[in-house]
Amino acid sequence: MRIAKRQTPAVPSFLSMTLDYDDVSIAKQMLSKQPNWYDEKIVKKFENTFARWNGSKYAFAFIQGRVALSAAIYALQIKPEDEVIIPAYTCISVMNSLAFDKINIVYCDIELDTFGLDVNRLKEKITNKTKAIILHHLYGLVCRDYEAIISLAKKCNIRVIEDCTHSTGAKYNGIRVGNRGDISFYSSGASKVFNTIAGGIVATNDASLAAGLEQYYDKTPFPDLASVKKHLRNIILDYYQYKHHLSWLWGDFVELLFGRARVAMSTEDEKNGVKPSLYRQRMPAALALIGLNQLKKIDKYNQIRRKNANRWDLWAKNNGYKKPLIVKGSVPVFLMYPLLVEPKKKQIRSWGPKKLGVEIGIVFGENCYTKKIKGCPNTDTVINQVINLPTLLGESVSS
Ligand SMILES: Cc1ncc(COP(=O)(O)O)c(C=O)c1O
Repeated sequence: MRIAKRQTPAVPSFLSMTLDYDDVSIAKQMLSKQPNWYDEKIVKKFENTFARWNGSKYAFAFIQGRVALSAAIYALQIKPEDEVIIPAYTCISVMNSLAFDKINIVYCDIELDTFGLDVNRLKEKITNKTKAIILHHLYGLVCRDYEAIISLAKKCNIRVIEDCTHSTGAKYNGIRVGNRGDISFYSSGASKVFNTIAGGIVATNDASLAAGLEQYYDKTPFPDLASVKKHLRNIILDYYQYKHHLSWLWGDFVELLFGRARVAMSTEDEKNGVKPSLYRQRMPAALALIGLNQLKKIDKYNQIRRKNANRWDLWAKNNGYKKPLIVKGSVPVFLMYPLLVEPKKKQIRSWGPKKLGVEIGIVFGENCYTKKIKGCPNTDTVINQVINLPTLLGESVSS
């Protein structure tokens, strides 16, 4: 999600809100330390720190969450023509990761309490070709049917991949999400819970799956020097453009000078379902260092997100909207706050800055919707009615 233009004065938005000057400082130092950009010891330290914090045994870091998902598909030995069930409402990159490997995608409707897979619809989709289910914890909410989906999959001998790209750090019964299925993947893209501008982690607790992930990882190259440089510059650009308290004053100027440093979340090819030539890459040490710094702050930022979500709960109550469900025993992270509003209110979103003082976001763009998924009424409702409110409002945390 890219925000087209800064408002004056700045209104809280969704991009790079966990970046602080300490991250910029690391990025600046790194720009002059090219020999360290591919230091595997730093990358291992990041992977191990993440795994420990997440309560997982193994973790491998790639350049995006979608590549981490491709690694999961490889490790689970899902082959062309196998079926994988996914939420009908999700990111196009999830669909692409499967389509790139010629896997048959089966779309399943979601529920409207937490926007996760609906277990009753899921039962109808399982066939003898189903190899895996991807469940997600969207917007940082632990999905309503989490336990039911895991036990259904176990009963049917189907693997579960947990999409934790929105929910890094969320907990269910004291355990972080991502540790109940077979494999989980996370994102540290600019709009995610923690931020390395681009990044993805795949994690598992199963030694044989970890061996498969390692095989994939070992055959995956680092991005080239020009690309790493661009990512580091993008961290500095995003900080000044979205997070700095004077961003409203110089945001456009910074864009003009350094906008070319921006790394596209999805290439035009990807938006059209074509695999980019540089799809498969690992995370370089230059970004892993930023990741290590972000991990020092992630719990504090998630706490702030939950606190700000209370504010939107109150607003929803006062304005007659239903607040999202926090499943019993769960601690969400509220990457953003979802609300179902009248379709017209979704179309014209200028009321956000005016009435609420924040931007109103739409997470999945038109590309998802052009897939014309049939027979998923709740997904249609969400496409027409869901809006998102930011849960970080300019707060800063130091590492
Ligand atoms: C639900 C969901 N899954 C997967 C991804 C892919 O993550 P990444 O952009 O790091 O590849 C995204 C990205 O926005 C997402 O929203």
